[in-house]
Amino acid sequence: MELLELMQKRRSIRQYVPGAAVPEETLQKVLQAGLLAASGKAIRPWELIVVRNHETLQAMSGCRVPAVKMLQGADCAIVVIADGEKTDVWTEDCSVVMANMHLMADALGLGSCWVQGRLRQASDGRTSEEFLRDILGYPETYHLEAILTLGVIEHHPHPHTLEHLLYEKIHHEKF
Ligand SMILES: Cc1cc2nc3c(=O)[nH]c(=O)nc-3n(C[C@H](O)[C@H](O)[C@H](O)COP(=O)(O)O)c2cc1C
Repeated sequence: MELLELMQKRRSIRQYVPGAAVPEETLQKVLQAGLLAASGKAIRPWELIVVRNHETLQAMSGCRVPAVKMLQGADCAIVVIADGEKTDVWTEDCSVVMANMHLMADALGLGSCWVQGRLRQASDGRTSEEFLRDILGYPETYHLEAILTLGVIEHHPHPHTLEHLLYEKIHHEKF
């Protein structure tokens, strides 16, 4: 399938087949796609924390208000953090990692969804970043960007169609 078709097919999948495991080989390809991301000055400030322990995933679901249900149902999550002291474009860098992994997951037939972490609050009033730092143990200089939930697809929504794209958002020469 060509890349544009894969991009049309990519959707956010929030429900996964209960008890179905993400194959290790597929997970490795998703992680490789993340590590292949473009990065300002090639600094690559990110770190990826792979969580497969279901008790940890359950605990992590409190990182947002309301609780993140899809973390409870996911078989795996990849938490994307970055060292904010390494570069001032760590959010952009991490977004590219997230986008690469999300697209690769769908291309491989795996369900995934972006859970926003940066600038978000946890169930106990702390920031999502502080809440997850407690569980995952990343240092103070590392900031939370987002979490990619992963699981076996229960139902894949319809692909996007090229006819429905918002072409009016494209401006030529001037706004
Ligand atoms: C920066 C960003 C943050 C997002 N945060 C969340 C989130 O916290 N929870 C969620 O369920 N989906 C989240 N999403 C997924 C979007 O809701 C989804 O991409 C959008 O509704 C379009 O649907 P589609 O991905 O199926 O095309 C996020 C996506 C992006 C790019």
